[in-house]
Amino acid sequence: MSKLRIMSVFGTRPEAIKMAPLVRELASRGEIESLCCVTAQHRQMLDSVLEVFDIKPDCDLDIMTPRQTLSTITSKCLLGMDDAIERLKPDMILVHGDTSTTFAGALSAFYHQVKVGHVEAGLRTYNKYSPYPEEMNRKLVSSIADLYFCPTVSNRENLVREGFTENLFITGNTVIDALKTTVREDYRFETEELNKLPYGEKKIILVTCHRRENYGEPMKNIMLALRQIAEQNTDVELVYPVHLSPVVREAVDKYLRGAPRVHLIDPLPADEMHNLMARCYMVMTDSGGLQEEAPALGKPVLVLRRETERPEAVEAGTVRLAGVVQDDIVTMAERLIRDKDAYARMAHAVNPYGDGNACSRIADAILWYYGKGEKPKDFTV
Ligand code: UD1
Ligand code: UDP
Repeated sequence: MSKLRIMSVFGTRPEAIKMAPLVRELASRGEIESLCCVTAQHRQMLDSVLEVFDIKPDCDLDIMTPRQTLSTITSKCLLGMDDAIERLKPDMILVHGDTSTTFAGALSAFYHQVKVGHVEAGLRTYNKYSPYPEEMNRKLVSSIADLYFCPTVSNRENLVREGFTENLFITGNTVIDALKTTVREDYRFETEELNKLPYGEKKIILVTCHRRENYGEPMKNIMLALRQIAEQNTDVELVYPVHLSPVVREAVDKYLRGAPRVHLIDPLPADEMHNLMARCYMVMTDSGGLQEEAPALGKPVLVLRRETERPEAVEAGTVRLAGVVQDDIVTMAERLIRDKDAYARMAHAVNPYGDGNACSRIADAILWYYGKGEKPKDFTV
């Protein structure tokens, strides 16, 4: 009997981190030929993940250009995917989340009448422009997909409310599967600067920021807030692996570089990042992935955005929305730095996003869909 050809398509760092354990899980199933096509919407940041998880793509579209626009990413992905699909002949394409690669990957699958499985389905803010363009990307992919792998119950409820009622699975988020393989108590950093940080003696705040809707005034406010926090707290060190986007780098250089107690470093490999998160005091970020990882590691998170599509950890009390106004961000950070009770209330490990078995459920669901196994039980918290 010929194997099912399941092709994972991804292009950016977070998609790669969250799809890597799935590519490997699929490869471990005898009934499946696990194929991998990268668009390389990110280049260095993608290659770093492929190296950490030892994944060798079957196809690399190599589309990244400096300061790429949404239209160039989407059109280059679509053209590249034509060849990839014709050559690799997948039965099903798996896309992840909400990037331009995700949308173009799903659209291309549809053009070729190939089934689509959407990993990390059903996240919503219901604000078309925030996050931008991700909210629209994931809504469009919902319309195209055949199988929906929802991390949480509320993600599933969002889809049901929108009229998507078939082939929905609650799997947990594959990022927790990834974390399980990277975080170790005895981990020694390859980045020597990270071995030298004064863990325990000082409060290490891990920072990231890159979202397109934060470009301009919001990003300026965030950078100035970070500067103020570093300047007025001598017992704090900020560690900020800066995204390679030139827009982000310009804002960092203009408003944050040179501030005391701020370590501006290059993007970290995923294993280094996850272990740094496990040792830090708290996280300040506009990233989606960090909002899922930090709660699992018991680290409070201040989200540098106006809203979030990940309300579960907010409800569990480990994540708070800090917004994009300088004074608000500083006030909320100061509270966590100074008020031990406020910190303790947020610093407990919760896992609303998964139990580390999401990839196994997704593989089971795909086999079930093709009549080759039992339907997996939903993930429950
Ligand atoms: C993209 C996704 C966003 C996701 C983020 C994760 C879209 C529209 N946006 O945003 O949803 O949260 O990735 O990080 O899909 N660059 C490099 N090297 C790299 C990566 C990026 O030089 O390895 C530079 C390039 O100049 C590139 C720019 O960063 O043009 C922006 O990359 P792009 O993928 O367009 O946007 P992100 O902000 O990374
Ligand atoms: N990450 C990383 N190195 C870094 C910064 C982030 O490996 O220097 C990881 C992080 O732990 C998470 C993912 O990248 O797993 C999040 O990616 P990003 O913030 O770029 O995108 P988002 O999640 O917002 O889409």
